[in-house]
Amino acid sequence: MMKKSLISIQDFSKEEILHVLEVAKEFEKNRSRNILEGKVIACIFFEPSTRTRLSFETAVNRLGAKVIGFSDASNTSVSKGETLKDTIKMVSNYVDMIIMRHPLEGSSRYASEVSSVPVVNAGDGANQHPSQTLLDMYSIMQTQGKLDGLTINMVGDLKYGRTTHSLLQAMSHFDTEFIFTAPDELKMPVEYKDFLKEKGIRYTETDSLEEHLNDCDILYMTRVQQERFTDPMEYEKVKNVYRLDASMLKNVRPGMKILHPLPRVNEIDQDVDDTPYAYYFKQAENGLYVRMAIISCLLGYR
Ligand code: CP
Repeated sequence: MMKKSLISIQDFSKEEILHVLEVAKEFEKNRSRNILEGKVIACIFFEPSTRTRLSFETAVNRLGAKVIGFSDASNTSVSKGETLKDTIKMVSNYVDMIIMRHPLEGSSRYASEVSSVPVVNAGDGANQHPSQTLLDMYSIMQTQGKLDGLTINMVGDLKYGRTTHSLLQAMSHFDTEFIFTAPDELKMPVEYKDFLKEKGIRYTETDSLEEHLNDCDILYMTRVQQERFTDPMEYEKVKNVYRLDASMLKNVRPGMKILHPLPRVNEIDQDVDDTPYAYYFKQAENGLYVRMAIISCLLGYR
């Protein structure tokens, strides 16, 4: 269908997003399809990852393609000073698609400009994480049965949390109301709030987790992103700002679901895992089906 790169969730139209979600549903019903036999896909990760890398690699394998790549750039010629441009030009000569995570904002866009094959952004600094967004939307659709008419409460590190930025942009295609729960130091950046204002989408801000806990359909918890802080003292001030536990969920909406891109540190107590509201582990599983859909759509097989 698409035959292009996925760098920002804004690269996809509403129709393309809905198409990927539909294809993901088919992959959830049938996980193993050899539709990409003969293809080779590179997963190159310049930053740590568990879910994104392993679910992309599993997706490649389940689609019948082969995967090459690295999870630690210190074992590559980057450690000898090779530039990102040269690395991407080389790798794109070998493979049919590059899936890349990199700490620098804008690195994925740059890679797509020098690559001869489609590039998927698996996270670029605090900027974007579009495959996470698509699996978040899939999880919202599966739990709520719709994408319109929902209230999403984003909690935690809204400044550096790239998943919240991508999700906000994607959900702007739908009738969504946002609550932003964050301390002053980690508020949603003004450019994203301006984006919502331009689109006529309502949002409320608070620094109290309790204030709007009972007013949302999706509680989107996030980890404080230690790796993005330049001053360790600033991180120490906010690292334990919110902690959700089961006793706080007594009056939430019956169908409310808690999402978290994971990993969590201590923002969700383990006693929440056994409540009917916890969805974050199933959300991570959904990543496999959605990433199978992304790869096959971008390569023109769906
Ligand atoms: N959600 C997410 O990106 O997790 P990983 O950092 O483990 O890939």
